[in-house]
Amino acid sequence: MTKIAVLGYGTVGSGVAEVLDVNAEHVEDSAGDKVEIKYILDLRDFPGDKHEDKVIHDFEVIVSDPEVEVICETMGGIEPAFTFSKKALESGKSVCTSNKELVAAHGPELVELAKKNNVSYLFEASVGGGIPVLRSMNDSIRHERLDSITGILNGTTNYILTKMDQEGADFDSVLKVAQDKGYAERNPEADIEGHDACRKTAILASIMSGQFVKHEDIYTEGITKITGEDFEYARELHMAIKLLGSCKREDGKFFAMVAPFLIPFDEALANVNGVFNAINVHGNMLGDVMYYGKGAGKKATASAVVADVIDIVRHKGKHIDWNMKNVPAEVASINDDVRNFFVRCDAAGESSARELFGDIKEVVCSKVNGEFAFVSPEMSERDFAEKFEKLSGAKGYLRLL
Ligand code: HSE
Repeated sequence: MTKIAVLGYGTVGSGVAEVLDVNAEHVEDSAGDKVEIKYILDLRDFPGDKHEDKVIHDFEVIVSDPEVEVICETMGGIEPAFTFSKKALESGKSVCTSNKELVAAHGPELVELAKKNNVSYLFEASVGGGIPVLRSMNDSIRHERLDSITGILNGTTNYILTKMDQEGADFDSVLKVAQDKGYAERNPEADIEGHDACRKTAILASIMSGQFVKHEDIYTEGITKITGEDFEYARELHMAIKLLGSCKREDGKFFAMVAPFLIPFDEALANVNGVFNAINVHGNMLGDVMYYGKGAGKKATASAVVADVIDIVRHKGKHIDWNMKNVPAEVASINDDVRNFFVRCDAAGESSARELFGDIKEVVCSKVNGEFAFVSPEMSERDFAEKFEKLSGAKGYLRLL
């Protein structure tokens, strides 16, 4: 029997209990041992809940109980999750978490601490909800030299963009539904401003580079500027609009960014809709491999946490290592990154656009009046920013994948 504790009985924490209850036999079969929750730590009480007798309010009880071998940290946020995780690892308990904020900020340090104490720090649920992408990167394709990762990494924004596109729904009401479904962060700004996708990109980039990619070094734009008219143009271009997190090695540099992109319909990522996430990883020998599944929500995310518990039980007495050293990675400025841009300006800005951008491709959309819209030639982010700044009547832009 392996006894575990769950820190935080919110959406994911209560999901962990549900997965362990509903799939008890499969969990035992997979882990080779029964897994039982001994404690649930939360500030609240849960009268009437099946596990109400396990709810406690003092972390010290958990950390000082030698019977507890694994701690599921599903609290979110940096503190007290960081302090609790450190104490747990120092006490010889393995930790698994869905807390992308903490992993992005202190993951390599916690992995190092886990190694020192011969336990494990696992965080499958921190990227892509239920998608088993991190374990695969750390195991099945660890021998590959990864060249690029491009993914739809935030379920809430993908849900919002899909509803805006397919149903013409307005931003605020779709966000409300995403919150009700348990997809959104406590502060949904983290989703819609791209911060959540940025943290997940930082985690993927750290595993890809083998070093610590700090989320503060990743250029990030969210989806708040995207309007119904952008989708009208996107349809003319036979493209979808998706918030992408990406990182790549190019010309000896390491780039990472988060921003909304126009993606041709014939690309797989353009067809990833609703709460689903997809992550395309390119290895030097393997080529492209795509991971797809539910990127948010109680059961999917909790299932990934339980997968980590099982991995830890199977490797009792051993440290599960990550290729993610606690050494800062150098992230290049996006200024030198080159691509095409889709640009909208007032109709009167056409001559300014032609003069500044040269060989442009006009995009005509009968549903949008009084505008001139075009696709720029390939140019660096630096050149584009300079030209867009000078463009007369500039209204907005999107990058093309
Ligand atoms: N708010 C996050 C999302 C939850 O929408 O993707 C899963 O990390």
